[in-house]
Amino acid sequence: MMRAFALMIVLALLALAQKPEIKQVAPKPTNPAAGAEMFREYCAACHGVDGKGGGPAAPAMKKPVPDLTLLSKNNGGKFPETRVYNSIQGDMVASHGSKDMPIWGNVLRGVSRDEATVKMRLTNLTNYIKSIQR
Ligand code: HEC
Repeated sequence: MMRAFALMIVLALLALAQKPEIKQVAPKPTNPAAGAEMFREYCAACHGVDGKGGGPAAPAMKKPVPDLTLLSKNNGGKFPETRVYNSIQGDMVASHGSKDMPIWGNVLRGVSRDEATVKMRLTNLTNYIKSIQR
């Protein structure tokens, strides 16, 4: 079960198709200390390299991909750190049913040595998103 989630969604644009085709492949290893690198590797397909939601896979999602640079602005000027950490980890899935976004807590387990490294990755991804707030 865990193994099945140790996959990452990437995209293959079909030459003539309007909608991108989503393919799941094994996640590439990244440096757990490098938030920007992890974001580019794991998140930019949907959220865009700039985090604004315009990634090439975004049109294939059922729900709109949120602009991650506006989280503070939309939360009264305060970065919603716990919510962001939890939604990357995948806690929202348990409470709100299925989501388009992969459960990264599980995916990141596939590229990490131990739980401490998984937490480090989640923290550094959260900090990276915090750093791109407008
Ligand atoms: C396959 C597309 C896809 C990928 C890849 C993806 N996301 Fe998302 N993300 C979404 C969608 C769609 C939503 C909207 C919420 C939903 O699905 O219910 C979302 C929501 C979020 C939210 C919640 C924002 C809020 O309002 O609280 C955060 C934070 C987030 N993503 C971070 C990330 C991070 C970090 C990564 C990479 C580790 C990532 N996402 C990778 C599609 C994706």
